Amino acid sequence: MDERTPLLEVKDLRQHFKISRKYTTKAVDGISFKIYEGETFGLVGESGSGKSTTGRSIIRLYNPTSGEVIFDGKKISGKLSAQDEKELRTNMQMIFQDPMACLNPRKKVYDIIAQGLEINHLYKNKEELDEKINKILERVGLSKEHATRFPHQFSGGQRQRIGIARALVMNPKLVIADEAISALDVSIQAQVVNLMKDIQEELGTTYLFIAHDLSMVKYISNRIGVMHLGHIVEMGTTDEIFQNPIHPYTKSLLSAIPHPNPVVEKKRIALVYDKDKEGIDYTKGVYHQLTETHTVLATNDEFTRWYTQ
Ligand SMILES: Nc1ncnc2c1ncn2[C@@H]1O[C@H](COP(=O)(O)OP(=O)(O)OP(=O)(O)O)[C@@H](O)[C@H]1O
Ligand SMILES: [Mg+2]
Repeated sequence: MDERTPLLEVKDLRQHFKISRKYTTKAVDGISFKIYEGETFGLVGESGSGKSTTGRSIIRLYNPTSGEVIFDGKKISGKLSAQDEKELRTNMQMIFQDPMACLNPRKKVYDIIAQGLEINHLYKNKEELDEKINKILERVGLSKEHATRFPHQFSGGQRQRIGIARALVMNPKLVIADEAISALDVSIQAQVVNLMKDIQEELGTTYLFIAHDLSMVKYISNRIGVMHLGHIVEMGTTDEIFQNPIHPYTKSLLSAIPHPNPVVEKKRIALVYDKDKEGIDYTKGVYHQLTETHTVLATNDEFTRWYTQ
């Protein structure tokens, strides 16, 4: 057993959306995982697998259909006291894919970053607020001159730095990064990921890093959960997922990553995964444990087959 206490624990979380009288989308259908303090947990899977819904349910944008979310030892799903609600609004922050869409275009960077601190009265006077904002701008590689500009005056990568600054100025324990770098050029992606890693080393921040691009997830995550159609089909350390994938869905995701070496890339075969054709029903699977950290969702038959393949 892992002796560390998790910062976040998601227990059998379900988030179903009723679309019509007859039809319900099971966006998240019974997932469980833990994230330990100071680590990065990567959540990967193709579009529509339920990654964003998971993040939103954790940060209380949705009320879960069932299951529990425990943060810092406290149950946070369901009703909360005003005090707990307030603490959460500082301790848990989200960074989004498209910063332009969530940064108010009429507000200067200073006010965008200050907003959370103002709402929660997290400074004594104007000097302290100025200091906090200048410090965080510098931390994300911007300068205090940038504070007086508007979001449209920045590049995509810089805007994402503003988004990170806005989240980090609250000194959160957990940051949920939902496709935070997906919209950026590959070279800029690496810069932003490096920035996030440096900040984590310095401040001990914990990340839930959501992405469909596995190459960056590999670089930043300690552990990875592979999600498909509302289920976590495989979970393990980054090494276990990349070196010893068991689930055919994980294998297909890995086979889709382009190889940087053109000679190897030419020989790469992208594996096709069709769960219905293969007769896989996630609701019939149970979690099989390969190591203390590596689990796969499968029926006994499937597990035997995949394990020996
Ligand atoms: N508010 C909602 N109401 C109804 N259905 C929803 C809602 N939010 C998400 N869904 C559905 O739930 C499923 C999972 O969506 P979600 O956005 O969580 O996927 P995702 O893994 O984040 O995908 P992407 O990689 O495209 O961001 C999809 O089928 C989506 O259409
Ligand atoms: Mg999403």
